[in-house]
Amino acid sequence: PRPILLTRHGEIQDNVRGRIGGDAALSEAGELYKKKLANFVGKRLKSERAASIWTSTLQRTILTASPIVGFPKIQWRALDEINAGVCDGMTYEEIKKNMPEEYEYVADSRSRKKDKLRYRYPRGESYLDVIQRLEPVIIELERQRAPVVVISHQAVLRALYAYFADRPLQEIPHIEVPLHTIIEIQMGVTGVQEKRYKLMD
Ligand code: F6P
Repeated sequence: PRPILLTRHGEIQDNVRGRIGGDAALSEAGELYKKKLANFVGKRLKSERAASIWTSTLQRTILTASPIVGFPKIQWRALDEINAGVCDGMTYEEIKKNMPEEYEYVADSRSRKKDKLRYRYPRGESYLDVIQRLEPVIIELERQRAPVVVISHQAVLRALYAYFADRPLQEIPHIEVPLHTIIEIQMGVTGVQEKRYKLMD
């Protein structure tokens, strides 16, 4: 068995304020996480010479990977966060105030009546779009024989996790993928096993 380690980037101020999208740098807590992550990866993959680190092209994932040494790093556009189109850079509050109709879909985690999976941000993407663009990443992940650390974003990791954990499509936009937590997926002959490591709050 070889592990796939999934993690979101370290925290950015936008996460604290509920502002979506953007391309911000890490907050103080995010800076701490990147060190803890490097430490964890260094120990966990000590004898795994062929392992690699995959990030998106957004600086919060590249910065999170920066202290990890000794493994090749690959940037994938397909690992970039869901494109929120005209809502990029807005807070959930601003969307609620200015675009109440849209908000019903964007933040339906309470009611779940609206179709968050198929909802496409104006000039942006839907979760289904994200799932589709992840296909080449999944094919490459399946092909790898060595461990891979994937440092990406909430919506993208929901989709990747659902693929490996065999979760139904409808659930994807609601799966919990907290910050500062590593989800380790073990692909073995007997199936898939999962462990979570919460490195900090
Ligand atoms: O808030 C962080 C973030 O990565 C946003 O950039 C993105 O729009 C959002 O999470 C995705 O989660 P949700 O679909 O639940 O808003």
